[in-house]
Amino acid sequence: MIKIAPSLLAADIWYLPQQLQQTESAGADYLHLDIMDGCFVPNISYGPAFIKALRPHSSLFFDAHLMVTEPDRFFEDFAAAGADLITVHQEVCLHLHRSLQRIKALGKKAGLALNPATPLSLTEEILTEVDLLLLMGVNPGFSAQSFIPSVLPKIRRLRELREKEGLDFLIEVDGGVNRDNIREIAGAGADVIVAGAAIFHAGDIAAAAAELKKLVENIGR
Ligand code: DX5
Ligand code: ZN
Repeated sequence: MIKIAPSLLAADIWYLPQQLQQTESAGADYLHLDIMDGCFVPNISYGPAFIKALRPHSSLFFDAHLMVTEPDRFFEDFAAAGADLITVHQEVCLHLHRSLQRIKALGKKAGLALNPATPLSLTEEILTEVDLLLLMGVNPGFSAQSFIPSVLPKIRRLRELREKEGLDFLIEVDGGVNRDNIREIAGAGADVIVAGAAIFHAGDIAAAAAELKKLVENIGR
């Protein structure tokens, strides 16, 4: 069953508790938390204290996507705040084995993210170590951007590679997903699909989340 991960970046902070509750009741699986430092990406969001405040109020799987230049400095903080999965970007990690091992040593799932222009070949030596590989569908930094079409064949190639190598990491797709393209993205091989604007900018948040989940219910492994 494909998992839906609402991205809180697109939520209205003023109505956060209600909006979080609406996605949860609609059957969301993960809560996607975009952490931005204003350096790796041209935007600043929130940090561990924000996640810690949310943690007692949600039973969703907390998916922390670290878009920061020095993610290793914050693993302990995000783990203690309640993240279940900590994902780092390939583009900023010089010692990926060390980073992923440190996340796992904290008892958390370890994810690796690639920007749209970062080739899959860069992951060749590290794929066996990842619990999840996140493919960005947009250049990270903002919600409500358009999905970059070349990411679709990249998802297919990653799924083929996973089969060929007999690996079992999850494939997550993040950015630009909406009701019109979600089935194609799921069909290409995504296991976890992030959606920000498609859920939180909708008139009825619960209905939008439920619709996305329904659109992919018969797809996937
Ligand atoms: C982009 C973030 C995404 C984004 C998704 O930098 O990593 O998680 O919030 O938002 P949508 O679904 O609106 O593209
Ligand atoms: Zn994200």
